[in-house]
Amino acid sequence: MSTKPKPGPTTADQAGNTLPALRKAAAHCRDCPLWEHATQTVFGEGPAAARIMLVGEQPGDQEDTAGKPFVGPAGRLLDRALTDAGISREHVYVTNAVKHFKFELRGKRRLHKTPAQAELAACLEWLDREIEIVAPELIVALGATASRAVTGRATPIGANRGRLIEHAPGVSLLITVHPSFLLRVPPEDKEQEYGKFVADLKLVVPSAKG
Ligand code: URA
Repeated sequence: MSTKPKPGPTTADQAGNTLPALRKAAAHCRDCPLWEHATQTVFGEGPAAARIMLVGEQPGDQEDTAGKPFVGPAGRLLDRALTDAGISREHVYVTNAVKHFKFELRGKRRLHKTPAQAELAACLEWLDREIEIVAPELIVALGATASRAVTGRATPIGANRGRLIEHAPGVSLLITVHPSFLLRVPPEDKEQEYGKFVADLKLVVPSAKG
């Protein structure tokens, strides 16, 4: 899977072999500075036996407050697209490449800031362990940060979406856009882009049904 940022056992390696143990250890992670201003670690959520794992970038404002991934506007769009693709969110494991919210203050508003490469690298220990424990047969990387985290390199989305890629023995990868991209596209393109996103998600339906 992805490259470990530092030699020797990571905090995540020492945390135990279950998702609850990992979640508990991640709550105290200080391996990069992002914990300082975030409310809490937002760990992944979903069944440990899920066949599909969705990976986003990092929690947003609402996720930071709720302590749950994808519960804000991008999450609601993701839920709608999953439903339209015929996938139940309850059956998938949903997580992020970076587990703390990175933001800049604009007045009282906390505006999303893309995580730096060093923050992504520091946080990979958690995603790597989640992938090991859940052992999904299919990973969906939502957006550029997630695909970099999963593949270990910059992977253009346009050239790679729309098909399943062999990621590791027995593990396929779908690279697609991040739902927040769909919130930002011009109104005249929204329907078409949403349709492309749902079409990408439909590729994972065979794994969702088992
Ligand atoms: N965007 C993400 O990448 N993850 C979330 O959990 C919410 C918004």
